[in-house]
Amino acid sequence: KVEKKLDVLCLGAAVVDIPLRPVSRDIFDIESYPVEQIAMAVGGDAMNESTIISRLGFKTGLMAAVGDDAAGAFILRSCKKDNIDTEGITVDPNLNTSINIGLVTADGERTFITNRNGSLWKENIEHVNFDKIKEAKILSLASIFNCPLLDGKTLEKIFKFAKEEGMTITADMIMPRLGETLDDIAGALQYVDYFFPNFDEACLMTGEKEEDKVADKLYSYGIKNVVMKIGKRGCYIRNKDGVMIVPACKGITAIDTIGAGDNFASGFIAALLQGKNLKECGEYANCTAAIAVQHPGATSGVQNREMVEEMLAKYKKDYE
Ligand code: ADP
Ligand code: NA
Repeated sequence: KVEKKLDVLCLGAAVVDIPLRPVSRDIFDIESYPVEQIAMAVGGDAMNESTIISRLGFKTGLMAAVGDDAAGAFILRSCKKDNIDTEGITVDPNLNTSINIGLVTADGERTFITNRNGSLWKENIEHVNFDKIKEAKILSLASIFNCPLLDGKTLEKIFKFAKEEGMTITADMIMPRLGETLDDIAGALQYVDYFFPNFDEACLMTGEKEEDKVADKLYSYGIKNVVMKIGKRGCYIRNKDGVMIVPACKGITAIDTIGAGDNFASGFIAALLQGKNLKECGEYANCTAAIAVQHPGATSGVQNREMVEEMLAKYKKDYE
């Protein structure tokens, strides 16, 4: 068997975020509204994930669509800086790279202004390079419902191909944007080895409210391992052997949980690549996310594998 060129290929969303803070609710009453900083940052679940996994020391590729514009160039530059393979990125001259403006009040309330015709909404099967996907050991979809045109039927085709290539498939999800249901993605979920919804997302999809029932229902769709993120409690894992809760890191003061889920998935995938068992993967994921929530934004926390190893050493001590 040929040696794989990539460890992971992250498929999904790559965007530019412009967070503005602090803004008050009466911005329109003021002629020119000053904020402390206006600067672009990369964002999008696949962008965040590929950044963190690459920093954890694995060969990572990103597959997404961007426009032939300054925001797209900014994303490509960030990939270069973090040593991410960009051969899977389509620079499509017909697209405007999605830019999300985040408005945050002094007390942390937030809203987003997004381009409904941006690249995130236009990314589709035409931007998916199957030959590139098969260069990797793991396909990570980040995230289901993030790019609405990568719908259930499309994902089913992509996942079926990845499985035929012997790949491991992981997937995160966000809240549906267009009212999609579990049945819309059932065909795709049957191929997923590790699924990373958070508890609220899992409740909404299943219509259940209790952890066991929520996880059982997702498991009944053929997902091999349901890995549900349960915030400061850690993660709840359901598979053929039963149920396991892997507790979160203790004594963490979360200042910004944006991207916590992306960091969790990244840590989990990095642990899989190290050959760790399921419980160890949950621990590694919790430790990666715990670093992220102590820093602003999604990618300013975890810089290298040493940071996670250090957190893991503390974790082991705390639970001795
Ligand atoms: P999402 O960010 O997708 O909504 P969660 O809020 O469940 O998901 O957070 C993801 C992960 O981040 C959790 O599974 C946990 O490992 C970690 N985490 C979140 N909040 C805390 C906290 N207060 N202390 C320690 N770990 C946390
Ligand atoms: Na998430």
